[in-house]
Amino acid sequence: MTHENLPGQPHLAYRGNELYCEEIRVSDLAKDHGTPLFVYSKGAMLAALAAYQRGFAGRKVQICYAMKANPALGVIEVFAEAGCGFDIVSGGDLERVLAAGGQPGKIIFSGVGKTRAEMRRALEAGIGCFNVESEAELEVLSQVALSLGVCAPVSIRVNPNVDPKTHPYISTGLKDSKFGVAHERVLPTYQRAAKLAGIRVLGIDCHIGSQITQEDPYLDAVERMLDLVEAIEAVGIPLQHIDFGGGLGIDYSGETPPDAGVLWQKLLARLDARGFGQRDLMIEPGRSLVGNAGVCVSEVLYLKPGEHKNFCIIDAAMNDLPRPALYQAFHQIVPLNPRQDVPETWDVVGPICESGDWLGHDRSLAVQQGDLLAVLSSGAYCMSMASNYNSRGRAAEILVEGSQAHLIRRRETMADQMQSERLVGIKSK
Ligand code: LLP
Repeated sequence: MTHENLPGQPHLAYRGNELYCEEIRVSDLAKDHGTPLFVYSKGAMLAALAAYQRGFAGRKVQICYAMKANPALGVIEVFAEAGCGFDIVSGGDLERVLAAGGQPGKIIFSGVGKTRAEMRRALEAGIGCFNVESEAELEVLSQVALSLGVCAPVSIRVNPNVDPKTHPYISTGLKDSKFGVAHERVLPTYQRAAKLAGIRVLGIDCHIGSQITQEDPYLDAVERMLDLVEAIEAVGIPLQHIDFGGGLGIDYSGETPPDAGVLWQKLLARLDARGFGQRDLMIEPGRSLVGNAGVCVSEVLYLKPGEHKNFCIIDAAMNDLPRPALYQAFHQIVPLNPRQDVPETWDVVGPICESGDWLGHDRSLAVQQGDLLAVLSSGAYCMSMASNYNSRGRAAEILVEGSQAHLIRRRETMADQMQSERLVGIKSK
């Protein structure tokens, strides 16, 4: 039996004419649970985490999974069991981590717009650190903490002004970005933080962008961060930890991002050279832990050949997988059961009433109505950005562990969708 791995997808392989995820035939999952269906490999998530752990071997590091990439309880549970902390960006994220058994002390709270209620709940839960993104937020956090009679552990997110060389929507560390405290305001912000009664300064953090496939932006950011640490400590404010954020890219279509372990060994050498190697370190990876651990399985509903374009209409759409519509992102699309026929060129599109509802343009596929396709690299920022547009229920999610398949989210029903709504009852008035 042939055993052919797909590039960048170590957990996926064709055995004969069948696509497997770990030890499970993906088409069996589609038969049992319907489509569209997200299928995640636990082994692939743990392997991605292991690369980071190799890079940080012998160092004091807290790896905080940036759960915005995929906030399914069953996914959070995998990383909680593996000892990870979590990077959250809302009160909702916090409740998910607590519900999945994550340790509050290992939670860091990022985001430019934390509300007072979110701050209060996070302080009550005893989270590890607030990554504060503005001077105004700092003042409010101090007030909220004092009203509870506690001190908020804080790191200031600084904007190091480096270009991550990625899509503009997911660049976050440039001067004009809404994120972080501008370079020139960092020192005064720390000095203010040190004076506020409700604030305890713990560390410093940055995050320069996402889907970064080169190492230079990281090297630049590390040097700039260390310059700032030196300047802050020189005015008498000690920093316990340095958090370098997330952002490492994955292979969607032949990109060659650095291996997490190799990259971090290189970055740690820089830290060592400047005497910071033994500091407490933190990172916040999201996509690189889960992106290539997942696929979205979808059925071909109709083929619609045309004069200029051939359309392959599938049952997954931009509401399930918004990355192509939002960022013109490329996701590989492969058949679960390849055919020997001569391939044709198809635009793979969903059923939603928008021309932006496409999953792949000009794909070469040998495909028939009723076939099953897998949209690859769908573990990150797909389900987490899914919506109910066109009253479409969100897909089910399966976590594969060897030869076991766990249903970690059932398909959303129409009752789920309508349960929070009420009719006004105009007719009966
Ligand atoms: N830390 C912070 C403060 C972040 O804002 C992010 C991502 C991360 C960590 C994790 O970054 P990662 O390791 O996943 O690159 N929806 C977009 C990506 C948005 C990223 C937002 N921030 C996409 O589908 O490409």
